[in-house]
Amino acid sequence: MNYAENSDIAESDNTFDAALSKSTQGHSYIHWTPIEVIKTAVDWLGTGSANRILDIGAGVGKFCIIGSMNSRAHFTGVEIRENLVEEAIRLKSELNLSNVEFIHSDIKSIDFSNFTSFYFYNPFCELMALSGAIDDQIQFNEEKYSYYQDFVVDQLKRTPKGTKLVTYCSPDLDVSVDFDLKDMYFEGLLQLWVKR
Ligand SMILES: C[S@@+](CC[C@H](N)C(=O)[O-])C[C@H]1O[C@@H](n2cnc3c(N)ncnc32)[C@H](O)[C@@H]1O
Repeated sequence: MNYAENSDIAESDNTFDAALSKSTQGHSYIHWTPIEVIKTAVDWLGTGSANRILDIGAGVGKFCIIGSMNSRAHFTGVEIRENLVEEAIRLKSELNLSNVEFIHSDIKSIDFSNFTSFYFYNPFCELMALSGAIDDQIQFNEEKYSYYQDFVVDQLKRTPKGTKLVTYCSPDLDVSVDFDLKDMYFEGLLQLWVKR
């Protein structure tokens, strides 16, 4: 179901890419979630207005924007790169969306207790990547990678029973001590975890 007037952008990855500035378009294939994946993730996370979904590392806001056009949930995207947040805010405004917001911040400053569900698309992968980075703002740093992964696991540990987490291409995030794996799709790359 689509709640927004401007539906083309919510149906095609190419149309979404075309709305981006040239400098961020080039990263779509590797760094922004495909629309088909977003729709499944949003259905799993909950589409009702009571759901407050946090995208951990929101990039240009693709997950939150497409998600907000396909549900009544409220989406918050937190992103460390200011230029990407500006792009996300511009798109939100052009599409006249009210159930989405973007915060320019390091995820380590965010209080997870404000949210009911979480989306995690390998946000810290550039700390471990030798190629394919978005730009040179994030440098290879194994220690920082472990710190951020542990930070997210620890925050998720404190969430209440029933909290939903969807991970995409994120095999290193080990939440199995506190969460049950409830569903998988896209050859296991997309996973739904629910806090026990
Ligand atoms: C793989 S992209 C995913 C983007 C978006 N969630 C999507 O699915 O389309 C990960 C994003 O996380 C951001 N990121 C990396 N470290 C971060 C941090 N410490 N705090 C907030 N965002 C971060 C990166 O800048 C990048 O834009």
